[in-house]
Order: sequence, then structure tokens, then C-alpha cells
Amino acid sequence: MDAALRSLLDWYAEMGVDVPKVAPAKPVRRPLVKSKPDNAASPSASPIEPPAKPATDLSKIKTLADLHAVMNDFDAGVLGDGARQVVFSRGNPDADLMVIGEAPGRDEDIQGKPFVGRSGQLLDRMLAAIALGEEDFYVTNVVNWRPPKNRNPTKPEIDMCLPFLERHIALAKPKVLLLVGGISMSALTGVTGIMKNHGQWHDVTMDGTTYPALPLYHPAFLLRRPELKKDAWRDLLVLREKLLSL
Ligand code: URA
Repeated sequence: MDAALRSLLDWYAEMGVDVPKVAPAKPVRRPLVKSKPDNAASPSASPIEPPAKPATDLSKIKTLADLHAVMNDFDAGVLGDGARQVVFSRGNPDADLMVIGEAPGRDEDIQGKPFVGRSGQLLDRMLAAIALGEEDFYVTNVVNWRPPKNRNPTKPEIDMCLPFLERHIALAKPKVLLLVGGISMSALTGVTGIMKNHGQWHDVTMDGTTYPALPLYHPAFLLRRPELKKDAWRDLLVLREKLLSL
């Protein structure tokens, strides 16, 4: 059986949906990843440093490629010190749905794409369960550099990255935002408490445009708390209903 189909069936089974038993899939050989480039500096000792501001007036940036280029040249200070590269996006920039996660981890830092590690694989399965493939969504993060030692980004670091995210959203022009995890939810809505806000629509207004935004449990959290997958499934159905209504 195709690995993607098996993984989707596994997700349904975890949700309590009846699925036929299938034989275990053959292990898939993963490509070797490149080693860290020489120019990647080691993490700085102190995470406390005044955050930098984009030197460019971001409203002058008219394409996603230009935004990516400006971010490549941006010195993110301590946040970027241990990162190999900026982690910009993956998926379809013309999609109605923009998925916004928290910050890159190790796999994302290596590949330069968001949500490509273990939690990204679960995220893809969750979206596939409501019939969304990579052409149906566009993914980025609030923070675009892997924080040193995989720690959570600090508030000043989030504030430093927000102007980039706002421009990113303005250029991608999604119809719906999916806020993956508490950091993403609070950065964009100001609301805290993912346990009580997941699955409830919030309005996010930026640059005069209001986007409906749905907070969702972070897949890394669901990997630790699988009993919450049922709630996540309900939230995904809420998302599907909205997308079908567009
Ligand atoms: N977690 C996130 O929030 N984003 C990623 O890109 C990977 C893991």
C-alpha cells in the first residue's frame, strides 16, 4: 500500500473512524541530508539582544521571491546565529489556505522549508484527512529562523519577525489562515490559551484586510497528547466547512 494512503488510514483510525486492517508498509529509505555548511555559525551564548528591524520598507516588496531575498539578507541576530538558512515557505502560494506554524526545527533548518520533519508529516496527514494536498495550502512560520538549541522564540524575536509575516500574508493573499500552535495563535490574534481557543474562528486584521483565522493544536503537541487528536479532527472539519463555503 502507498505510504501516504497508509498514513492517512492510520490518522483516521486514531480518530476512531473504522478502517480496514492493512499490512505494515515497507520501510522507506530516506535521502541523506547535507552536513552543516561552513558558514553556519554556532549558537550565541546569550539569547538576550535587542531585535533587529528590517532595513527595507517592506511595503515596497511586491513579490514573494523578493521578500524571500530580503529575508535571506536580513541579519536576524541571535535568532539566526545557529540557523543554516531562512525557512520561508512550501506549498502553493495561490492556495486559499495559509498555514502558519511557530518556528523551524532541525529538519526545516536543513531543508529550508517549514514543517518537513515529524510534526510536518503529521500536519500533512491531518490536512490530507480533509482532502487537502500540498497544492491546496501554503505553509510558513511566525519565526523564519531556527531558534538556537530549538528553544521557543522569545517575544522580541517574534516581534522582529512579524513585519515579514504580515508582508508574506499580504503578498500571498490567502482567504483563510490556519494558526498552528499557541505561539502562532497569540502572535497573530493576541489571544492566549490554545486549549480553550482551538477550533474557534478569530478575525485577524492586517493592512486593512481581515482574515478568518482558526487556531489548531500543534502536531508536535498532538504527538505528545494523542488523546487530543479527536478534538483536532473536529477542528479540521470546521476548517473544511469554511473552505467549502468560499
Ligand atoms: N514546527 C513548526 O511550528 N514549524 C515548523 O516548520 C516545524 C515544526
